[in-house]
Amino acid sequence: PMKQRLLVVANRLPVSAVRRGEDSWYLEVSAGGLVSALLGVKDVDARWIGWAGVNVPDEVGQRALTKALAEKRCIPVFLDEEIAHQYYNGYCNNILWPLFHYLGLPQEDRLATTRSFQSQFDAYKRANKMFADVVNMHYQEGDVVWCHDYHLMFLPKCLKEYNSKMKVGWFLHTPFPSSEIHRTLPSRSELLRSVLAADIVGFHTYDYARHFVSACTRILGLEGTPEGVEDQGMLTRVAAFPIGIDSDRFKRALELPAVKEHINELTHRFAGRKVMLGVDRLDMIKGIPQKILAFEKFLEENPSWRDKVVLLQIAVPTRTDVPEYQKLTSQVHEIVGRINGRFGTLTAVPIHHLFLPLSREWTVGSFATDGRPLELPLLPLLLSAAFAAVATAVRSFRHCCCCCPQLSLLSPLLSATSIATATAFAGAAQSLGAGALLVNPWNITEVAASIGYALNMSPDEREKRHRHNYAHVTTHTAQDWAETFVSELNDTVVEAQLRT
Ligand code: G6P
Repeated sequence: PMKQRLLVVANRLPVSAVRRGEDSWYLEVSAGGLVSALLGVKDVDARWIGWAGVNVPDEVGQRALTKALAEKRCIPVFLDEEIAHQYYNGYCNNILWPLFHYLGLPQEDRLATTRSFQSQFDAYKRANKMFADVVNMHYQEGDVVWCHDYHLMFLPKCLKEYNSKMKVGWFLHTPFPSSEIHRTLPSRSELLRSVLAADIVGFHTYDYARHFVSACTRILGLEGTPEGVEDQGMLTRVAAFPIGIDSDRFKRALELPAVKEHINELTHRFAGRKVMLGVDRLDMIKGIPQKILAFEKFLEENPSWRDKVVLLQIAVPTRTDVPEYQKLTSQVHEIVGRINGRFGTLTAVPIHHLFLPLSREWTVGSFATDGRPLELPLLPLLLSAAFAAVATAVRSFRHCCCCCPQLSLLSPLLSATSIATATAFAGAAQSLGAGALLVNPWNITEVAASIGYALNMSPDEREKRHRHNYAHVTTHTAQDWAETFVSELNDTVVEAQLRT
């Protein structure tokens, strides 16, 4: 039988494009979680629709890029610079992102944002419409359309307006905030209604799904049911689908000889020191300053550890045109500089803070040794060389999915088992609970104590916690997540047809 076609629509395509000439493009494929999850879904034939992340004003360039992307089963949406700026830097990353993560803006910035709000929301809707146009052009009867994330909340409605029979699902990769927060958004109702046009709406956790349903009942006055949200007999299914990782890819990566060699090299370089690892997009939600300050506190209180532990903090630059992100960068630099000045010696510093523009999802990156750039699955490699991962995200789900479980997954390949310090505010903490040390990232004293606890943990306890995490990540994979979502979407549509 023919496989069902799946159109995955996300703001960013799983490849990044670099222009090499008038009609020539270099494409770097990201082998991130979402990509491999969807490649692993059986019985579907997936293709991607999204923004290539570059401005391509000329037709020659657009045609060449479209052709190059087609080979990767990707279809580009072209956004001109002004729209991209207002939609991506503005509405998505300066308004929705901080709001959904409960990050308040300083009063002055908030007023400025309030004034530019309308034009940014208009650009957001226009951009979503452009995505819808491309989907509509490529849609064939029977296809499943899966829209992703906060960038595309307007998309389900646009798609259903084109074709009410289209099977449309929407999944949010960020938290959905309490309705008390959502209601402060000027476009609160319009966004909710657009999302509700989908057949099924998915979140990482039950809490986020519940918040969404309450927003619909309190702000729109609709009825919430155990199944979802009902509007005049029409049901939008709302459910939780906790995401996972592609654990097999990690295991495979570690079997590469070059990776083994670099793990040895790293272990050797840090001999005598335990490596606490952090890998984060340089984003406010990741709690990087909190982590670094907690590490300082730990060093302050534990002089005997000063030359025996190192914090290896990898920062992945992101959204560098948004002012809040620029502020964070200088803030982190300043703190790291101060602490290294305070505790560094002639031969060693306590914090290695590196900028690495790892490709999307951080699994493949250039790892420079002796000036030779190497393409290696960097995340598995670093996690293997580390003693523990420290994740202090103030709000996030994926963060912990990506970091902690991988660490525990990889650690059996080393002699020691590892333990992650995970934050209680990250969605993944709900599923990883027993394996990780849960902390409140805002409580620096507690995080410092947990770092100490992890460093001194008995081998027995490490082993036990590790086993728990390992079992969890290998049985809740990204493939399971994607398969469940797609099959629920199909079922939801069948059930809706039966009801009418
Ligand atoms: C988060 C979002 C994704 C986004 C990623 C990277 O995980 O949920 O949709 O792609 O961050 O951010 P960027 O703005 O670089 O695409």
